[in-house]
Amino acid sequence: MTLSSAPGKVYLFGEHAVVYGEPAVPCAIERRARVGVTRRDDGKLRVQADDLSLDGFTVEYGGQTGTRPDVDVSENLIAAAMGYVDGAIEQVRDVTGEADAGFDVTIESDIPLGAGLGSSAAVVVAAIDAATRELGVTLEPDELAERAFQTEYEVQDGQASRADTFCSATGGAVRVEGDDCRSIEAPDLPIVVGFDGGAGDTGELVAGVRSLREEYGFAADTVETIGDLVRTGEDVLADGDLEELGRLMDVNHGLLSALGVSSRSLDAMVWAARNAGAYGAKLTGAGGGGCIVALDPTDETETALSYTPGCEDAFRAELAEEGVKRLE
Ligand code: MEV
Repeated sequence: MTLSSAPGKVYLFGEHAVVYGEPAVPCAIERRARVGVTRRDDGKLRVQADDLSLDGFTVEYGGQTGTRPDVDVSENLIAAAMGYVDGAIEQVRDVTGEADAGFDVTIESDIPLGAGLGSSAAVVVAAIDAATRELGVTLEPDELAERAFQTEYEVQDGQASRADTFCSATGGAVRVEGDDCRSIEAPDLPIVVGFDGGAGDTGELVAGVRSLREEYGFAADTVETIGDLVRTGEDVLADGDLEELGRLMDVNHGLLSALGVSSRSLDAMVWAARNAGAYGAKLTGAGGGGCIVALDPTDETETALSYTPGCEDAFRAELAEEGVKRLE
């Protein structure tokens, strides 16, 4: 078996505005998906996922995502999980030239699914890395990120940005602007994540911002203001000024809220973090539900979040310096 892991991510700044060509700064966190791959001689693909923060499920199929597995979790989630693994394996077959290669794939992940922490990107990056290595090919991080992006792009019908896959493949903090992704310097960040147990619909949320932006000049200005904030945030990140970083995260949350992508539970968690003394807090990802990210070197925010109605899970997540890890 060949085993790789890849991290999830939070957005320090810039989600949604990145869709319109503004810069964004995601950063990889030490919450990982681990994918083990063993070659099969019969050309089939068997996927076992014991913990995707779903009930356990096992899927066996002959390379066709149309085959319905016998499982008791939502069809959409199964279809999505199967689609990602199927897409990743297609990339592996393409890059290695082994069109008939089959695999047993085992997935474990401690990144909540669909909550804005880049769980699918982490699974795809780790799956492509492990399966290519199982066939004797080791990809450079840039090519791995590109292949993973192509997978997400196809599965998500062209809605994916490069942020999640690049961040997961390379680790650390990243600056994304259009197709340009690069690693940037970041200090140790005392990241705390609050999760409301749910997930927003990224497509709907992106569409909502798009129509607001088309209808109102001030909404378009808000998107541009997020871009300005990100440019300031990059300098502050390089200086390592956590207090200032937190202040900018607070402003970023306010701007996202003005664009209609926050929710009651996200706002409650953001305020719990601020009241607990966090440097700052904001939603991360598409919004509508899912996760917030706060900066707090003390235990106060994590404790406050764990008592906040609507917060299902609160945890500390260090910045992941390393992207994909080759474990076996
Ligand atoms: C979703 O995690 C982040 C968005 O900016 C969409 C995207 O960049 O693909 C809302």
